[in-house]
Amino acid sequence: MAYRDDEYAAALAAAAGHSEAWLGSLPNRHVGPRVPASELAEVFGGPLPESGMPAADVIDFLAAAAEPGLMAMPSGRFFGWVIGGTLPAALASDWLVSAWDQNAGLRYATPATAAIEEAAGHWLLELLGLPSAADVGFVTGATMANFTGMAAARWRLLADAGWDLDRDGLSGAPRIRCFVGRERHDTVDLGLRYLGLGKPVQVDADGQGRLVPAALDAALAAGTGPALVCLQAGNLHSGAFDPFPEAIAVARKHGAWVHIDGAFGLWAAAAPELRHLTQGFEEADSWGTDAHKTLNVPYDCGMAIVRDQTALRAAMGLHASYLVHDAEGPGDPFEKVPELSRRARGCRCGQP
Ligand SMILES: Cc1ncc(COP(=O)(O)O)c(C=O)c1O
Repeated sequence: MAYRDDEYAAALAAAAGHSEAWLGSLPNRHVGPRVPASELAEVFGGPLPESGMPAADVIDFLAAAAEPGLMAMPSGRFFGWVIGGTLPAALASDWLVSAWDQNAGLRYATPATAAIEEAAGHWLLELLGLPSAADVGFVTGATMANFTGMAAARWRLLADAGWDLDRDGLSGAPRIRCFVGRERHDTVDLGLRYLGLGKPVQVDADGQGRLVPAALDAALAAGTGPALVCLQAGNLHSGAFDPFPEAIAVARKHGAWVHIDGAFGLWAAAAPELRHLTQGFEEADSWGTDAHKTLNVPYDCGMAIVRDQTALRAAMGLHASYLVHDAEGPGDPFEKVPELSRRARGCRCGQP
């Protein structure tokens, strides 16, 4: 591809102008979209164009056509779900990431973005008070962060049961019993489904959605075999946290792997006035969180944190002759996530 500096400059200038206009409109604009997707589909659709158009015109068209269909999610007047805005450095870093366009899977090939992710991962562990030797993988969001942690769990639980998952797959494997609080986020079930682990056992929760440890004990005692317990830091409706010290003690008694879904709530550990909510959470085996909610980083950016590096890399890694593996370093980014080609998501978080 020939580098046409005038085309890039015009398109980027157009994007910057429209972005500033969008950000500038946030304090006063109507928060909700004014036009439904069905109507917008007609604006964006129509016959496949026979010819192209200048890059800056594409950007102008996109910005103008999309404007009435945008929800003011980054504005201070948007209170839907647990969706956050975007901090200036995080947004601008995201632009850099796109301009750099690094395929950020290999330390050897993309050392700058790998090093930035490593720094962001170390800071994350320090900020949250999680084991400094844990692996951090930057994924698309909390759904995939939970999936990744639970994939490591699946590998370890089956390996400990004498089952070679890589060679023999799941058919005929010992059944992994999965336990969740009645009010876990539904995407945990989705992750378990992706992993072929089936529907989890739902454990009773209290009025705030906190899992009841005695109920977990009874549920685990009702059977035998490998077990995965998924706890929650931050209930979507009440904000409540599962009682980690008691629940993790119960899980340990039954030899279970403990994963914590802390999509937005894990960050409470970084705030001195809220840290008590996460008390005991550092005893878990894996954690899922994301930066696109509480941390105000642009979509998409999730983090899978796994104490057992061997399990994570066995679950996610691959080896091919053309992928130059950095055997000396702290692991290639792709070994810790479910995808090979990937953008450098950690760059948006690594700002001082
Ligand atoms: C507790 C919890 N877990 C998981 C998720 C899924 O997060 P994501 O959309 O980043 O995949 C959410 C989303 O709101 C959540 O609140």
